[in-house]
Amino acid sequence: MAILITGGAGYIGSHTCVELLNTGYEIVVLDNFINSKPEVIKRITEITGCTFKFYNHDLLDKKSLEQVFLENDIEAVIHFAGLKAVGESVDLPLQYYYNNITSTLVLCETLQKYDVKKLVFSSSATVYGLPERFPISEDSPLRALNPYGRTKLMIEEILQDLYVSDKNWSISILRYFNPIGAHGSGQIGEDPNGVPNNLMPYIAQVAIGKLKELNVFGNQYATKDGTGVRDYIHVVDLALGHLRALEKNTYSKGVEVYNLGTGKGYSVLEMISAFEEASGKKIPYKVVDSRPGDVAVCYADPLKAEKDLGWIAKKGIDEMCVDAWRWQTKNPYGYEINQEIKSPYFIKSEDFLIRNKY
Ligand code: NAD
Ligand code: UFG
Repeated sequence: MAILITGGAGYIGSHTCVELLNTGYEIVVLDNFINSKPEVIKRITEITGCTFKFYNHDLLDKKSLEQVFLENDIEAVIHFAGLKAVGESVDLPLQYYYNNITSTLVLCETLQKYDVKKLVFSSSATVYGLPERFPISEDSPLRALNPYGRTKLMIEEILQDLYVSDKNWSISILRYFNPIGAHGSGQIGEDPNGVPNNLMPYIAQVAIGKLKELNVFGNQYATKDGTGVRDYIHVVDLALGHLRALEKNTYSKGVEVYNLGTGKGYSVLEMISAFEEASGKKIPYKVVDSRPGDVAVCYADPLKAEKDLGWIAKKGIDEMCVDAWRWQTKNPYGYEINQEIKSPYFIKSEDFLIRNKY
């Protein structure tokens, strides 16, 4: 019996593969490398000493997906595959809706056909929109503010409907807060294409000298120092949350939503200090206008995951920064040597269409 990991070559997927293999699970990984590199597959094997089956398939391709189910005894699926850049989703809404939602429909249809009814889905704290109460609990009002967020919200609703139609499903919807850091080996980590959109990889690239300075997006928020506050969670803690959800799916049916966060909020300036401490490097920065669509504060109430799944985030902000820095210094160009820094929107419309044969 194996666990199928869609998007397993990606940032969170690769760390989850390592934890699954280390725990003794058999895994089958599917990814089309639209936002990842084949090298990661080799690295997962190096870290764990385990081999596993990998399919270089597009989840949109139903025939190829069926082949995976025919060739393997799949018992459950962790579904990471999807496009995830908020800004890009505003420019390419159709590609985001098509890729994220259609691939999930293809996956669920196939799961139904092969009678595999255990699913863990990657959702996001972005579904809380502009939260009003903190910490944010799972029953907070939901509202997505961009196409990416709407794909997550729509998929959550699709999965709820699926369970209403067939009570044999066991579905865990995991709403991640801000995953950062890397595996302690420094062998796998976050490898953004082009200039990073997110804070931690941007800081890491400033520290190593690839980028000149950090733009701090606004210091007028009603927060401790005026800069945005987020709930940063170590990617390995996040990965372990998937194992706990998978275990729960094996003994109980239903659809449940869980926040995966630490419950603590750190400001941008606090993150800069923590990274300076971890790396011994100065992070030059300047304050610029706030980023449209950004919320001032976002941090989780993680108690439901602790109560139901026995999961709690254990790694602190210092370890997140030390591990992110180790990954950055060991892999200054990510998984590819001589990778050039490209535009922040790495998938230009035409390029995307060609690569995905639309
Ligand atoms: P990632 O881009 O590193 O990984 C996603 C993987 O899915 C990539 O390897 C990509 O090549 C693959 N993929 C995309 N479309 C595919 C398709 N049609 N067929 C096959 N493979 C496909 O992203 P990540 O940070 O690891 O995120 C994983 C999941 O978690 C995503 O669904 C993302 O939306 C969600 N999430 C991420 C964050 C975050 O900050 N990283 C926060 C909340 C939620
Ligand atoms: N920030 C900067 N400068 C930068 C990048 C970010 O000041 O160059 C600030 C932002 O304004 C924000 C904080 O750093 O206050 C964190 O920003 P990120 O872009 O790292 O993360 P977000 O919280 O904006 O968004 C992330 C993911 C979304 C996901 C959300 C909740 O990018 O996909 O977390 O999970 F929806």
